[in-house]
Amino acid sequence: MRTPIIAGNWKMYKLHDEAVKTAVELKSLVSNAGHCEVVIAPVFTALKTVADRLEGSNVKVAAQNCAAEANHSAQTGEVCADMIMDVGCEYVIVGHSERRQFHGETDDSVNRKVKACLEYGLKAIVCVGEDLSQRESGREKEVVGGQLAGGLAGLTLADMERIIIAYEPVWAIGTGKTATPEQAQEMHAYIRRALSGSHSAECAAGTRILYGGSVKPDNIRELMDREDIDGALVGGASLEAATFSKIVNYR
Ligand code: 13P
Repeated sequence: MRTPIIAGNWKMYKLHDEAVKTAVELKSLVSNAGHCEVVIAPVFTALKTVADRLEGSNVKVAAQNCAAEANHSAQTGEVCADMIMDVGCEYVIVGHSERRQFHGETDDSVNRKVKACLEYGLKAIVCVGEDLSQRESGREKEVVGGQLAGGLAGLTLADMERIIIAYEPVWAIGTGKTATPEQAQEMHAYIRRALSGSHSAECAAGTRILYGGSVKPDNIRELMDREDIDGALVGGASLEAATFSKIVNYR
C-alpha cells in the first residue's frame, strides 16, 4: 500500500552538464523500475534542465531546500516553492541535517518551509535524525520525536498525504556506518507510532518513511526487507547512475 521511494540527494555536487548527463543515464537504467518511485535532487542551477530532460520518464525531480517564505519577496539569495514548482520539480527535501548543522535551520524554519511547499502543491521530504552524542546518551527517540512534532506542527491529515519522512541518523551520513536494519526499523516504527498519535492511525499507516545514511547497493535489500522502511534517501551512492540504479533495482 505504500509505494517505496528511492531518492538520490546530490548535495552540492555536479556542475550543470554533469548533472544532466547523470540524470539522462539514470533515466534509461531505471526505466523498468515499476516497483518504486525514483527521485533525484540536483543543485538549483541544474533543476530546470534536468526536469526537462526527464519529462515523461519515471524519474522525478526534487529541490534540496526552499525558502520559508511562500511569496515572491525581497529575500536575496532565496528560492521559493513556487519557483521550484515552476521548473518542473515535484518534491523538496526539507530540514536535511546538513542544513540544520551548517545553515541554522530549526524545527520552526523546517515547519514554515514544509508549509510553503504544500501551499504550492509540492511534496516535502522532511528529514529527521539524531547525532552520535544524542544516540550514545539514549536520547535518539526524544530528539526525533521533537523534530517531528516541530516540523509537522499544524499540518492537517490532507497535508500529510504529501509528506514523506526521511530518518537520517547524522552519525550514519557519509560515514560508511549504516544503521543496522534493526536500529532503522526500531526508529521507523517509533516514527509511525508518533504519526499515529499526532495525526491518525490511517495517516501513520500511509506515510512513507525513508532511511538515509550510507545506503549502498549491498545494504539496500536488508533495509527494504524491514516492515516500516519504505525507501531510501541516498547521498554518495546516488552520484553515479550505475550505482544508484542498482539501489533502485534492489529487488
Ligand atoms: P550518504 O548516503 O552519503 O551517507 O548521505 C545520506 C544523506 O545525507 C542523504 O540525504
